[in-house]
Amino acid sequence: MTLLPVPDIAIIVVAAGSGTRLEAGAPKALVGIDAHSILRHALDGVFAADAAQVVVVAPAGYEGDALAELEAAAGDRRDLGRVVTGGATRQQSVAAGLAALWGDVTTVLVHDAARALTPPTQIDAVAQSVVPGEGVIPVLPVIDTLKKVAGGAVVSAVDRSELAAAQTPQGFPRAELEAAYTAALAGGIEYTDDAALFAAAGYRVRHIEGSARAFKITTPADLERARHLLAAPTPARPASIDLVGIPRVGVGTDVHAFGGDGNLWLAGLEWPGERPLSGHSDGDAVAHAIVDALLGAAGLGDIGEHFGTAHPEYAGAHADVFLARTRELLAESGFAIGNVSVQLQGNRPRFSARRREAEAVLSAVLGAPVSVTATTTDGLGFPGRGEGVAVTAIAAVVSDVSRIM
Ligand code: CTP
Ligand code: MG
Repeated sequence: MTLLPVPDIAIIVVAAGSGTRLEAGAPKALVGIDAHSILRHALDGVFAADAAQVVVVAPAGYEGDALAELEAAAGDRRDLGRVVTGGATRQQSVAAGLAALWGDVTTVLVHDAARALTPPTQIDAVAQSVVPGEGVIPVLPVIDTLKKVAGGAVVSAVDRSELAAAQTPQGFPRAELEAAYTAALAGGIEYTDDAALFAAAGYRVRHIEGSARAFKITTPADLERARHLLAAPTPARPASIDLVGIPRVGVGTDVHAFGGDGNLWLAGLEWPGERPLSGHSDGDAVAHAIVDALLGAAGLGDIGEHFGTAHPEYAGAHADVFLARTRELLAESGFAIGNVSVQLQGNRPRFSARRREAEAVLSAVLGAPVSVTATTTDGLGFPGRGEGVAVTAIAAVVSDVSRIM
């Protein structure tokens, strides 16, 4: 009989929450995404990563269900896994997991089962980044514009360049994490995540790049997103490794008529005093042409499919929302944006004075250079008669293999 070496890494998969916000009538981890539960998908990712002890923290009364999922995901690595019972808070659940670690373990990763589609590469990257005395967490940049609010009022803007959205797994040296948990228990303080608890004990936490697929399933809309991702056709991904690195291009056009009330929104900017364009959202034909060019380049369908009238949540949305979501859709399919060039045909607005501003706004939300040009049509056609505008966009994208599961 061959004795396999005992791993010095452990992953605690916390799955003991009730899933109040998901409102699925069962503990969240046991809710199905497709034929498999959230927990099963999370464990598939964990067992696809490098070998580690796996401690599943299950909701009280559901230990048997969790064990069945563990056995299904582990295959011939069943000996690495065990199930323990969780507590009333996430922190208590992690503490229950910590109590079940093998003696040889020196590095501990704490992972939310709710981040069911986390790529195994992210789990390995966190594990490999842990060093003595320091924790490490995966983060993503914050895309939305953030505001401080009080009551019904917007109090101030928040500089999002200083912020990052934390994901899991979060990795720590075992001895320091245990010391930090002991301190938190003694202080009776509940922290929002393990990194906060670890930092409160005086240790340093570093960050590495997270991934869009590691999002947390919290609401019914998140569950839909996970279902959509798992059901998504894969031809958009590179057909062979030879294609990796070769840019793919896409074209998008959009036309909107002037009409309606309020100010014009175009190229991500508000244009006070200019006639608005009519449309399902804010009529921003520049943004819409860019969305189609990007989706087309990645082979991910078109704007109608992702943002059309079947998606009332986008009614009235501005360019930043459309473009941020498009960037996310591409990232989820393993594409990075190379650049975008967009041209507007129309008499108004006069673009030259605000061209740089528009380019800055669009480039910031896409995380890639966007150039904007504008022209008139010599009085010809509907743009020449001032009835509306026509926009053409071209985008180049590249397969970003490091983000593909
Ligand atoms: N968790 C846990 N024990 C708890 C609470 C949460 O193990 N007492 C786990 C959840 O199972 C989840 C992760 O911590 O994998 C992140 O928590 P969250 O997304 O908030 O899940 P729930 O607490 O289940 O959801 P909700 O807050 O909507 O009730
Ligand atoms: Mg919770």
